[in-house]
Amino acid sequence: MQDLSSFNSFGLHVHAQNLVRICSEADLKNCPSDHALILGRGSDILLTDDYEGTVLVNCISSLDIRHEGDRWIVRSGGGMELDSLIETLIARNIPGLENLSAIPGTVGAAPIQNVGAYGAEVGEHIVKIEYFDLDRRCFGSLSHDECEFGYRTSFFKKHPELRYFVTAVTFSLAEKFVSRLTYKGLAGEALDTPYKVREKVIALRRSKLPDPAQIGNAGSFFKNPEVSEDKAADLRRSWPDMPVYPQSDGTVKLAAGWLIDKAGCRGITHGRAGTWENQALVIVNRGGARPHEIVALAKYVQMEVMNTFGISLEPEVRIYGKTGEISWDQI
Ligand code: EPU
Repeated sequence: MQDLSSFNSFGLHVHAQNLVRICSEADLKNCPSDHALILGRGSDILLTDDYEGTVLVNCISSLDIRHEGDRWIVRSGGGMELDSLIETLIARNIPGLENLSAIPGTVGAAPIQNVGAYGAEVGEHIVKIEYFDLDRRCFGSLSHDECEFGYRTSFFKKHPELRYFVTAVTFSLAEKFVSRLTYKGLAGEALDTPYKVREKVIALRRSKLPDPAQIGNAGSFFKNPEVSEDKAADLRRSWPDMPVYPQSDGTVKLAAGWLIDKAGCRGITHGRAGTWENQALVIVNRGGARPHEIVALAKYVQMEVMNTFGISLEPEVRIYGKTGEISWDQI
């Protein structure tokens, strides 16, 4: 049995029958694929049980950077840390990904849920994803449009039955730096280089989010819910200071962290699980928590938000049990 505590950022002591590090495309051709679970660095998952199969850890860390016209074409191995890639690009004066600085996890995992922060989403810059299909045992690729990126979703998340191991991600980045400072913590700042944006984003993240190396967590546990304009207007009558983010499709996105906070669940502790004091949307392992304690805390938070606002929060993290992915409602 293999201990997975350093392969899930909650730091939960769960095990897998076997663990194989995949360091190249060649490794994939011979790897065991029956019931294999693919992991990057386990930054956005909750493991509820010991896994009855093999875990394949993505360690493919190649990097190829070329210049084409007025753009940089960057092809990164799926196992590279996203933040190491961003640091390398900024050191080489290649802008575009700086708003996504310090997000834990790998390049290969980032497009699965289209990670986003501080006004940017990774999918905006992706032109190609290469993968190995563990069931058909063949290589393939998806173009930007085929990835169907949306808010914390993609083709991969919409098709959990497909077991695609992401071998490489290709980004197309404009040579000229255009700052994106729409997020309120960045607006009004004199951030005129990618390096300055990166430094500011890192400082903002540190001020709000716990470092998984010190306190187990998987970032935002729930997605920000999208509701109708009517529902948002209705809630605003009772909660005039509730943040609202109108979307282009007419729906309104609400801040799950704010809802959890106002439902009285910021900084709470149940057993060895809790919500983070500076950002209620983050569920933390306060030390030695078992999976069921994280689940119980999350269910409690979900129920309090439902009772207070009539809104059902949906997990952002993916949840895996004994034999594979499980839906939140099944737990
Ligand atoms: N808020 C509270 N109390 C809280 C938390 C938030 O009142 O405990 C309020 C904030 O003051 C703000 C609003 O809620 O008015 C939104 O909070 P914040 O700006 O921190 O962002 P978020 O919507 O909670 C999202 C992402 C984060 C990302 C930040 C910054 C989701 C689910 N989460 O959080 O992503 O870092 O924006 O861009 O979309 C992640 O996905 O793991 C993650 C951390």
